[in-house]
Amino acid sequence: MTKKPIILGIESSCDETAASIIIENEQGIPVILSNIVSSQVEVHKEFGGVVPELAARSHLEKIDWIVQRAIDESGIKKEEIDAVASTAGPGLIVCLSVGLSFGKAFASALDIPFISVNHLEGHALSPKINSKIDYPYLLLLISGGHSQYLSVQGIGKYKRLGTTIDDALGEAFDKTAKLLGVEFPGGPQIEILAKKGDPNKFILPKPIFNKGGCNLSFAGLKTAILKISKNMKNEQDKFDIAASFQKTIQDILHRKTKVAFGEYEKINNSKSKIFVVAGGVAANKNIRSMLINLCEENNYRSIFPPINLCGDNAAMIAVVGLEKYKLKKFDKLDYPAKPRWSLDERAVFLKGAGVRL
Ligand code: KG4
Ligand code: ZN
Repeated sequence: MTKKPIILGIESSCDETAASIIIENEQGIPVILSNIVSSQVEVHKEFGGVVPELAARSHLEKIDWIVQRAIDESGIKKEEIDAVASTAGPGLIVCLSVGLSFGKAFASALDIPFISVNHLEGHALSPKINSKIDYPYLLLLISGGHSQYLSVQGIGKYKRLGTTIDDALGEAFDKTAKLLGVEFPGGPQIEILAKKGDPNKFILPKPIFNKGGCNLSFAGLKTAILKISKNMKNEQDKFDIAASFQKTIQDILHRKTKVAFGEYEKINNSKSKIFVVAGGVAANKNIRSMLINLCEENNYRSIFPPINLCGDNAAMIAVVGLEKYKLKKFDKLDYPAKPRWSLDERAVFLKGAGVRL
């Protein structure tokens, strides 16, 4: 019996220091042996957002014992690891440098291959952990820094169908939470507040709802909520704003996902109707249930990673590492950190410009 590959994944692109060991099982499915995530929420809370310098210091302090813990909990010896995969981008350069340098040094010391990983590709492949999913599939990636519809044709082969022209969806959740006086990161808190609110109390804007294909826009929502929140009188108002915001997001994603289905089917001839949702916002149960229903109505199989794999983690980085390892796609030790790194290299970097509506 041939030895199944064992990969160490390392993630430090933003405010989570993470390490994970995965192995491929007999059926060719990646299985987690250990998955350690150390969040820096407490470090950044008082600033209302991630402070790069503090984040990098914290990664540096923790990376050594996080990797050691991942190895200890996996039950394997470090000599059994076949390759090291580290996130090389996109993200904060000072943060990326910590996990990237550590991964290179570790691989070099053990004399095993080093593999650089695109963080977004990690999110994109996260549903493959413990499951067999074939290419192609339609991916909705909704995180703190990105909101995109992508047709995933294979490892390293992505076609971007739509993206946000301003804020990312997680950013919109976090900004709304801040206006409601909720601590960072506010996304999960909005979901809790919304449970007690009336989703139809406030009518909020839905930018580019009927145009712009499956591109997205959320910046106008923040401005509308800023105005409404100034007149907040009691706790119930806060619950109603949270519920109305969440309902508006559901409406936007409902409409845009339908458009994305059409664009995906144009490329793939309706061959593989699989819809994968990944990234931190995929943890939102209301958004999940709306998208599950939409998939049922349109004959799509819907796949969500387990909640603990929606946010940033290193198991998803190790999975990309595993796929690249099998293809012998190794990197040299001078591989750079890439603060900007699109999954679809042909797509222009947008941020408020360039999308034809
Ligand atoms: O993927 P992720 O962990 O980090 C990035 O790569 O950005 O996503 C973090 C984002 C944050 O904006 C957070 O507020 C949001 O995901 N988030 C949620 C929920 N859980 C996390 N947003 C809405 N509802 C949730 N339950
Ligand atoms: Zn992420």
